[in-house]
Order: sequence, then structure tokens, then C-alpha cells
Amino acid sequence: MAVPFLDLKAIYNEIRTEVTPEINDVLESCGYVLGPKVAAFEEKFALITGSRYCIAVSNGTAALHCMLSASGLEPGSGVIVPPNTFTATVEGIILAGMVPVFVDTEDRTWNLDPVLVEAFCEKNRTPRGVVDPRTGAVVRAVMAVDLYGHPADHTRLESIAGANRMMLFEDAAQSHDANRDGSPAGSFGMAASFSFYPGKNMGAFGEGGAVTTDDKELNDKARSLRDHGSRDKYYYEYIGHNYRMCAIQGAVLGVKARHIHRWNDQRREAASRYEQLLKGLPLQLPEEAPSTRHVFHLYAVHTPRRDALRDFIALRGIASGMHYPHPLHLQKAYAYLGHAPGDFPVSERNSLENLTLPMFPGITPAQQLEVADAITAFFRE
Ligand SMILES: Cc1ncc(COP(=O)(O)O)c(C=O)c1O
Repeated sequence: MAVPFLDLKAIYNEIRTEVTPEINDVLESCGYVLGPKVAAFEEKFALITGSRYCIAVSNGTAALHCMLSASGLEPGSGVIVPPNTFTATVEGIILAGMVPVFVDTEDRTWNLDPVLVEAFCEKNRTPRGVVDPRTGAVVRAVMAVDLYGHPADHTRLESIAGANRMMLFEDAAQSHDANRDGSPAGSFGMAASFSFYPGKNMGAFGEGGAVTTDDKELNDKARSLRDHGSRDKYYYEYIGHNYRMCAIQGAVLGVKARHIHRWNDQRREAASRYEQLLKGLPLQLPEEAPSTRHVFHLYAVHTPRRDALRDFIALRGIASGMHYPHPLHLQKAYAYLGHAPGDFPVSERNSLENLTLPMFPGITPAQQLEVADAITAFFRE
């Protein structure tokens, strides 16, 4: 039996009767951009993320850009970020005129390592603040990514950031409805950004994103920046962007907001089944920190034999992914930062060893058994 990586059709079938009238409302209203469906979604998503404000935007990269541009940080500020993330995290920093400062990740959760962040701050503290020795930028922020759906250790990162006069931001593109230390993803630090790209745990029927925050000033500015820097029509306070969310995506996401918690419970059940099926094999399985709700956007296992395993299971019809196969500090786009192999060993190991297995709400025990049988056969041969 072939097993797909993701089954978007199953989710669509499940909500078809709920979502169709919502989309029809938009079509009948002929109000295709922002409007009441987007505003209603913003209210619901603020509740899910335990935030006072939610600003819906056109995609997750726009959310990152908008969030940082609205933060009050000066252009040229350094922002600590893991190299083990999707390129958009770093693009958002650069689009906002800031400087990425890579720090490595933990090898259990693959998220930004608070111990290394603290060590970086101690080593590079000056009377002007923490100065990145590579670029000379004064580091004013930490951008933690909730990779694979596991929230980073925001409690520790926030206290390190606070002690060093830095703001904490959260790239929560992969962690809708996750939770750590009693707080939902999207509620940590100064603000968080989300993506609703179709394959995300909460995916739109196209592109979408959001910023969540408790900070009124950040909310007001981000809301203005998403719509050309205007507060009142045709009066421009800032040079902004066209980052508005389409009304149809607001309608779709409003429906998906009703289901996200249950869908994530299904992902968590599927993760427990994988754990039972795969334990005992020479594979590093995902770990969940105490007091954490991991929402398994991706189920990532690690082995030095990753490429051979991936080819072997592909021959049996098992789809898989690699997130991500090349760390950002070694990409051509970021070569100007002057990094070399060996600079961030954990992220580099992740890039060589991670394999992401089929994972979606509704994946059946039979499909998971098929995946596990193929992996077991590989290690037996
Ligand atoms: C960690 C992370 N950050 C940011 C983004 C960017 O989101 P989008 O593709 O909606 O621009 C993604 C999406 O793939 C992501 O996984």
C-alpha cells in the first residue's frame, strides 16, 4: 500500500459541507479582501493563541516581516535565529532591515538552544549590549522557531532575552494550537508569526498568515503595515505593504479554527503509534519536553543512514520528506555572513540525518504499520 506524506483531500472532505456556505457568503458579498470573515477569524485565532490581538496577513513570510517592522526595533539590529529552519524565518529578519545572527539548536527538540544563546550573550556582552562579532550588529532580539510543531523553550529564552535587553519573537508557523508550560504557541514573547500555507496544521485554501501579540502598539502598526501603512483610507502613516488576507481564506480558516485542536489530537495519537511501532530500531525518535503539547506538524526521525532509508521506503511507496536538507548558514543566499561547515554541528547533523514520515490527521493505523514495516525491513537487511 502506498502511503502519502499528507492527505489534504481527507481534510477537505471532512469540512466540505461546513466550508462551502462560508465561501459562498464571500462570493455573494463580492467583498474579496479582509472584511467580516477575516475579522471573525482574527478574533477566534487570538483566543486559540491566548493573545490579545491577531492580525491576519497574506502569508507567513509577510507575518514575519510585518511583526519585526512593527516591533519598534531599529533597522540594523541583530536577531538571534537558528540555522535549522525554513528560509522564510531569516528572510523576514532581512526584509525588516535586521541582521540574522545564527545560534545552534538542541539535539533533542532541534529548537534554539537556550544554553548556547546564553553562552553567546555572555561571550559577546559589551557596554553597548551584546554585539555579534561577525557583523558588528547589536543584538536586540531572539527569534525562536517552534520546529516540527514543538514549542521552543520560550520560558528560558524569554528570561535570557530580558536579561540582555532583547525582545523574544516566536516563529509559530508549524505550531498552531501547541502549548508549553501552560501557554499556547503564539503567546510567548513580544509577538508571534504564523503561516497558513495549505500543508500546515491549520492550512488555508491558498496562502495566509498572522501575527499575534498582546502589545497594542505592535498590533496597531502591523495592522497598518499590512495595508500600505494606512490607518484611514488614503492617509499613510508608514511605507507599508500589500499583505492583506483574502476574504475566502478568512472564511476557510474560521471553519478550520473549530477543528484544529481535535486534528492535532489525532496527530498526537498517530505520533504515539509511531513511537510504539518504531521503538527499538536504531532511529532517534521525536521527544516532547515536559509540560509540552507537541502538535507534530512533522514527525521527524533521525539516522545517519537517512538517504538509504529514504530510497528504500520510497521503493515500497512510502512518501517522506527532509526538513531541512541543507542548513541556512551553508546556503548560497547567506554566504555573505561568512559561515563554514562545522559552525553549527547540531543543525548540520539534523540536515544530514532527518527524515520526516507521513503525518496528517486521519492517518490510519494500517498506513502507519506499512511505514513501520518498511523501515523495519530496511534495518533488518
Ligand atoms: C518555520 C516557518 N517559518 C515561516 C514560514 C513561511 O510561511 P509562508 O510559506 O506562509 O510564507 C514557514 C512556511 O513554510 C515555516 O515553516
